[in-house]
Amino acid sequence: MIVLGIETSCDETGIALFDSEQGLLSDALYSQIEIHADYGGVVPELASRDHIRKILPLIDEVLEGAGLKKTEINAIAYTAGPGLVGALMVGAAVAQSLGLVLNVPVIGVHHMEGHLLAPMLEESPPEFPFVALLVSGGHTQLVKVDGIGRYELLGESLDDAAGEAFDKAAKMLGLDYPGGPRIAKLAELGDTSRFHFPRPMTDRPGLDFSFSGLKTFTLNTTHKHAVDGVIDEQTKADIAAAFQLAVVDTLSLKCRRALRQTGMKRLVIAGGVSANESLRTALELMVEKERAEVFYARPEFCTDNGAMIAFAGCQRLVAGQYDDSALKATPRWPLDSLPAVN
Ligand code: KG4
Ligand code: ZN
Repeated sequence: MIVLGIETSCDETGIALFDSEQGLLSDALYSQIEIHADYGGVVPELASRDHIRKILPLIDEVLEGAGLKKTEINAIAYTAGPGLVGALMVGAAVAQSLGLVLNVPVIGVHHMEGHLLAPMLEESPPEFPFVALLVSGGHTQLVKVDGIGRYELLGESLDDAAGEAFDKAAKMLGLDYPGGPRIAKLAELGDTSRFHFPRPMTDRPGLDFSFSGLKTFTLNTTHKHAVDGVIDEQTKADIAAAFQLAVVDTLSLKCRRALRQTGMKRLVIAGGVSANESLRTALELMVEKERAEVFYARPEFCTDNGAMIAFAGCQRLVAGQYDDSALKATPRWPLDSLPAVN
């Protein structure tokens, strides 16, 4: 079954073709970062309009990349939520119209399920069951995964998501959006021992997170070291390094706790922040001590992309699941409400 995947939940138009027999055939991504950069974050209306401009040319591009005609598409998967409603509507409208024209089944995919399953696109995919850490711009969740659609939420952020914390801290340091990769780069030049940032909620039991305190701590530290409103470059790098280490330590500690609590030996990390090299290194070290394994996707499949939506949709479509022809755009949609496959 050849599935066309369409991702338009935020500021990236991601399109891909996934074949249930042969795997990923082709994928294309257009990032709107430059459009939103001047505003320091995503402007929903601009995002929707740009998805409209890019979606059809990108579909043609992936078809050409795979050497296929539109009529060879067997099914369509699109991101139905969570995300920006206008941006989601663009993907939903294109998916459903194309589905009607081609007379093929269409399914609305949960964006975070797409992220969660993305490491399965890699060469040695994780087997079920496992613990998943989902760390994106909008979500920070620890999930026990027994199979596709068999998700038990173990813990989540009570306030900001990890990616959001990176983005906000970056803004305070005068770095552009998205802040995660920029903080990571600056942190390479920083000294992690100069500042000590708190590790929120690690001194009490449980698997929930809170990142808003780190934001305040970053703000106070920048203010304290600013001279006439300007912070020198080394101090900025030291703050970035201390901030990143605090986030990484906190995530690592909670992942270890989740592995121990569930008795699982496999950890999957997914979502934009899982592209972070320091986080990957820290988790590699942690799982080694726990005699466990960690799995993640290649960096371009950690952030938003069409391949993960085509893959997740394909798993459900081959199991016989699909939607009616209504446009589905669900800005808020709990992951643990999804139906199971098998
Ligand atoms: O999964 P994603 O592309 O979109 C959402 O579903 O939200 O995640 C985007 C988030 C942004 O907050 C971005 O700053 C963060 O992921 N991010 C990173 C890195 N790459 C992206 N955070 C830390 N280190 C990175 N290398
Ligand atoms: Zn995402």
